[in-house]
Amino acid sequence: MHITIIGTGYVGLVSGAGLADFGMKVFCVDKDEEKINKLKNGIIPFYEPGLEELVKKNVKANRLFFTTNLEEAVKNSLVVFICVGTPPNPDGSADLSQIKEVALSLAEIIDEYKVIVTKSTVPVGTNRWIKNLIDSNKKTSVAVDIISNPEFLREGSAVEDFMHPDRVVIGGESSYAIAIIKDIYRPLYLAETPFIITNLETAELIKYATNAFLATKISFINEIANFCEKVGADVTTVAKGIGIDPRIGSKFLNPGPGFGGSCLPKDVKSLIHQGRKVSSPFRLLEAVIEVNEKQKLRVIEKLEKFLGDLKDKTIGVLGLSFKPNTSDVRESPALSIIPVLLEKGAKVKVYDPVAMEEFKIAAKGLNIEYASDPLNCAAETHGLVLLTEWNEFRFLDLSQLKKVMKNPLIIDMRNIYEPSVVKSLGFSYEGIGRL
Ligand code: UDX
Repeated sequence: MHITIIGTGYVGLVSGAGLADFGMKVFCVDKDEEKINKLKNGIIPFYEPGLEELVKKNVKANRLFFTTNLEEAVKNSLVVFICVGTPPNPDGSADLSQIKEVALSLAEIIDEYKVIVTKSTVPVGTNRWIKNLIDSNKKTSVAVDIISNPEFLREGSAVEDFMHPDRVVIGGESSYAIAIIKDIYRPLYLAETPFIITNLETAELIKYATNAFLATKISFINEIANFCEKVGADVTTVAKGIGIDPRIGSKFLNPGPGFGGSCLPKDVKSLIHQGRKVSSPFRLLEAVIEVNEKQKLRVIEKLEKFLGDLKDKTIGVLGLSFKPNTSDVRESPALSIIPVLLEKGAKVKVYDPVAMEEFKIAAKGLNIEYASDPLNCAAETHGLVLLTEWNEFRFLDLSQLKKVMKNPLIIDMRNIYEPSVVKSLGFSYEGIGRL
C-alpha cells in the first residue's frame, strides 16, 4: 500500500513514520523545501523523543520518503492523509485556509479513485465540506471518498501514542473506504486496539469532545486546588481519593499553572465557537477557559504573598515549555506569566532544558535573562518559580540553590517537591493546593 501524507508537522511526521513502520510505503509531502531537505538528512524540525530513530530507520528501509512534489506522491498513492495545521483565528474559530488549499490542489491532481483521510483536527462538518470542494473542482468524474481519522497524539509521547493508541476512530460513509483505512491500521487491529467506526460528524466531534473533557478535568482540579488552599485540604490526596473511582479516573487530575500547548486551548475555543454557531452554547467550556486564564496568574499572587511588591525583585523561572519532554512553548503558561512579572517591575531570569530557543522567538522583545543552567537561573533571585515538571528539576541540589539565591523562596506550580523536605532546608515554599 502506498500512502501520501500532506504536512510534516507533529501529526504528519509521526503518522508518516509510524505507518512506514507498519510496513507501508509512505511519501511525506510539504511545500517547505528547506524542511523537506532537512528531513531527507534525518534532521527533525522539533524535539520529540524516539521520532528521529523511527524516521531514520524507515528511510533506511526504503519505506519513508520526503518530497515537495505533491502530484507525484498522490499519483502513486491510493490513500492521502491531510495533516496540515488548523491554527486558531482571533475569534477562536479554526483557520481552514491550509485545508482548503490542499483540497483544491488535490482536485487538480486526482485522476483515479483515492481515499482522502483527514487527520488534522477540523470543526464538525469540515470533512463533508472538503469532499464537496474536491468533487466540485476535480477535472474528471473519478470517485473520491473521504474519511475522518482524528489523531490523539500527545507531544512528548507521540511515537508511543501512535504505536499504542487507546482507540482508532474512523468516520466515513463508504464502507469500501473504511475497509481500506482499517487495513492500514491492521497491526493495531490485531493488537486488539478498539476501533470506533462511525459517520464523519461523530468522528470529528470525538476529537473535540476528548480534548474539551481533558481540559475540563484540569480546570476542575485547579479550582479544587485553589479551594484546598483556603480550607486547609490537600489536593494531591483529594485527586487520589476521587481518581480511584473508575467513573472519574486518576489521570489529568494534576493541578498546575494552567493547561497550554497547541491543542487543548485551541480545541476548546473552537468547540465553543462551533456551539455558538448552531445556538448550542458550551457554557461549561467557557468557564473552563476562564478558569485556565486565571490559573496562569495564580503564581503572581503567590509571589506577592511572600515578597510584597515585585518591583525590582529578581524572579527565576524554571520551565518554559507547556509541559515536559517537548520544546513547544505554544500557549505555555510562562508566556502569560513573564510579561506580568515584567509589568510589575520584576527582573526575570529563565531556564529550560530544551525550550529556550523556541521561547526566545515567542518572547521576542521581552527583557529576559536566559540562564545556562538551573543554578545560574537561581543566582541572585528573590524567588524561584517552577512552571514545568521536567525530570531534571526533580533532582536539583536545593541546598546549592539556596546558597546562590538572595532570598530562599520556591513556588512550585507542579507540586514536584515534598514541602517538609524543602522547608527543612530553610526555604519558604509553596506548592499548589497543598499545606
Ligand atoms: C493533548 C491531548 O492530550 C492529545 O490527545 C491531543 O492529540 C493533543 O492535545 P498535548 O497538547 O501534547 O496533548 O498535551 P497534554 O499532555 O494533554 O497536556 C496539555 C496541558 O495540560 C499541559 O499544559 C499540561 O501541563 C496540562 N496538564 C495535563 C495539567 O495541568 N494537569 C494534568 O493533570 C494534565
